[in-house]
Amino acid sequence: MPTEEISDPDAVDIRKIKDMKGYFQDEKARSLIDPETIVYRVYRKMHPEISYGITEIFPGKVGCEYFMTKGHFHKRIEAPGIYLCLKGLGIAVLQHENEAFPAPIAPFEKGAIALMAPYYAHRVINIGEENLIFIGFSATDSGFMYGHLEKKGFKFLIVERENQVSFLINPNYQR
Ligand SMILES: [Fe+2]
Repeated sequence: MPTEEISDPDAVDIRKIKDMKGYFQDEKARSLIDPETIVYRVYRKMHPEISYGITEIFPGKVGCEYFMTKGHFHKRIEAPGIYLCLKGLGIAVLQHENEAFPAPIAPFEKGAIALMAPYYAHRVINIGEENLIFIGFSATDSGFMYGHLEKKGFKFLIVERENQVSFLINPNYQR
């Protein structure tokens, strides 16, 4: 549990199914899940220069799409982040501010370190059967921004298809 790592967090964000409207493709499937179901929670510790958060994503799916974080750009868009996976099996997806740029997808499982590069939005997806826990570090003044993610989401959706983890191009990106 993250609370063991951060006993006195400065902030706790809990994202339930009811808070994730519009983030999953299958809105009907989302509406049929108990709205109080927790998708993920973040325990944040703020320091003057650098801050960190421990995120715990529960296992589950909305339709065929795995539970995931909302994802964000940094408000100071050139500020990077570093993620270290402490437990579980996941995937990290990135999305450049310029939609024409490639949108990388990387395995993110226990022990993995991933750079959330400047100018890239970042999201983590839990594709495993247990909780996925990671710690993320970034400059305290990085901030959060959703930009075009709110309307279009990320380019790639991570889904289960024929019992396999697979990815689909988000229909919002097909022109
Ligand atoms: Fe971030």
